[in-house]
Amino acid sequence: MTLGVNIDHVAVLREARKVNDPDIINALHVACESGADQITIHLREDRRHIQDVDVKNIMNFSKLPVNLECSINRDILNIVSNFKPHRATLVPEKREEVTTEGGLDVFTYEDDISYAIEQLHDSLIPVSLFVDPTIEAMEKSKELGAEMVELHTGSFANIFAMLNSSLLHSNHSIKELELPRYELEAKLEKSIEDIVTSAQHAKKLGLEVAAGHGLNYHNVSYMMDIQEITELNIGQSIIARSVFSGLADAIKEMKRLTTR
Ligand code: PXP
Repeated sequence: MTLGVNIDHVAVLREARKVNDPDIINALHVACESGADQITIHLREDRRHIQDVDVKNIMNFSKLPVNLECSINRDILNIVSNFKPHRATLVPEKREEVTTEGGLDVFTYEDDISYAIEQLHDSLIPVSLFVDPTIEAMEKSKELGAEMVELHTGSFANIFAMLNSSLLHSNHSIKELELPRYELEAKLEKSIEDIVTSAQHAKKLGLEVAAGHGLNYHNVSYMMDIQEITELNIGQSIIARSVFSGLADAIKEMKRLTTR
């Protein structure tokens, strides 16, 4: 399994103080030395964490492939095309969201996504689409010309957390998932089934399959059983653990858990 380590959260901490500490280039070097297979970063329209200069420096210094996540905004696409990352992953973006909340709506924004894929392909950048795990989204992604899909695992991760952690009793409880355990268990099973069937369908269509969002040291084993998934992109849980264990150990442990 390819492990893409998302280092955006190092820049979140830096931007909280507007100083160059922690230095994202240190994080890049530690990730490269600790078992990451890929560096994943998201250049958001509001630049709330990763800045243009970070992308430039990471592209210059990374010994690993860089997966650059971005929206379908035309200005952002021009910037991404110039940086020529190893891959671009198109994601939905809303200014008011805390993090990416769902997959790209490949139906409503079909024309814009098609334009974005064409522009990136013209710059020789392969494209992955971050989509919800549905058969329809797999088919549309193929039709639009993407090489890869990244299945949004946020829904699975939320249900898993409400069942298996103290989230329910915290300020961050997910209201619509405050349900009896048997209902949550049925939802968890359905969310896994959706990921499995989507991954299988995508592979049949000739798409590469990644997954990401909300994956952590407790739930990642579910992804390991799905052979069609060959890449995971993980950020929050690795950076959160690094506060206690250091970044190198946090990445090494995730690499151990994601090695087949
Ligand atoms: N993959 C994509 C496309 C994302 O947008 C994100 C979040 O930035 C991730 C993976 C990583 O998610 P998390 O930080 O929850 O591990």
